[in-house]
Amino acid sequence: MSILEVRQLTKRFGGLAAVNEVSFNVEAGEILSIIGPNGAGKSTLFKLISSFLRATSGEVIYEGENIVSKAPHIVARKGVVRTFQETTIFKEMTALDNVVIAHHLRSRASLAGFYWASRTAKEDEAQFRESAEEILNYLGIGHVGNEIARNLPHGYLRALGMAIGLAAQPKLLLFDEPFAGMNHEETQQAVKQVYGIRDRGLTVLLVEHDMPAVMKISDRIVVLNFGQKIAEGTPTEIQDNEQVIEAYLGREDEEIGL
Ligand SMILES: Nc1ncnc2c1ncn2[C@@H]1O[C@H](COP(=O)(O)OP(=O)(O)OP(=O)(O)O)[C@@H](O)[C@H]1O
Ligand SMILES: [Mg+2]
Repeated sequence: MSILEVRQLTKRFGGLAAVNEVSFNVEAGEILSIIGPNGAGKSTLFKLISSFLRATSGEVIYEGENIVSKAPHIVARKGVVRTFQETTIFKEMTALDNVVIAHHLRSRASLAGFYWASRTAKEDEAQFRESAEEILNYLGIGHVGNEIARNLPHGYLRALGMAIGLAAQPKLLLFDEPFAGMNHEETQQAVKQVYGIRDRGLTVLLVEHDMPAVMKISDRIVVLNFGQKIAEGTPTEIQDNEQVIEAYLGREDEEIGL
């Protein structure tokens, strides 16, 4: 079953069609990567799906419902969550507290003023702490739960970003360049974490430039170039696709690793 159907989705910035009539489906439980040269429209596409940007036209059907241009917090509550970048991690708090807070924000954000001092808050706290510990353990970073986030190495901060995303109990997770700036070992670890997330029953959409990682991790790949979809298929199909090779060769020879 398709969890997400992107239909003729378009975003124009003035005269530029950053995303141009893009259509594709995402099946429940798959890892689908969006690739393409710099400026191809990948991040814009993610912002449209997670509703951080209003589409110019087109539809985003999530679990049968058109969610295009709905408020981002409503889309997030329905289960479509873009991962937080490092900058939204509270650097002076522990890793564990960051994930606990993320649970609170999901749970009662609209009632925040009444909520923090209430009895429900205290009851939730224990439950959220347990869930946060479970998420950190699941991602293999439980042992740094009590470290202040600021002191964590890069790879751990990325994993913490994933943990914060998971606290929102998403069904569809969108990761924009999760492996950027990682060394080989960190990438291997992060790939395992993404597999782990999928094994929890989540669907994963990924934008990434690290081609070896993309080819390894993806069930399917969608390729954008100048805002348009130029190819869609399995990693093997994409590696052999003439248009894809041309799109990359036209820009940076090395990027796709051919
Ligand atoms: N807010 C904006 N206003 C105007 N133009 C924008 C805006 N955001 C993106 N663009 C333009 O839209 C195009 C697509 O940008 P986008 O960030 O989606 O590309 P990308 O595929 O994510 O690139 P990269 O691989 O470099 O991250 C680019 O030409 C970019 O300059
Ligand atoms: Mg981008």
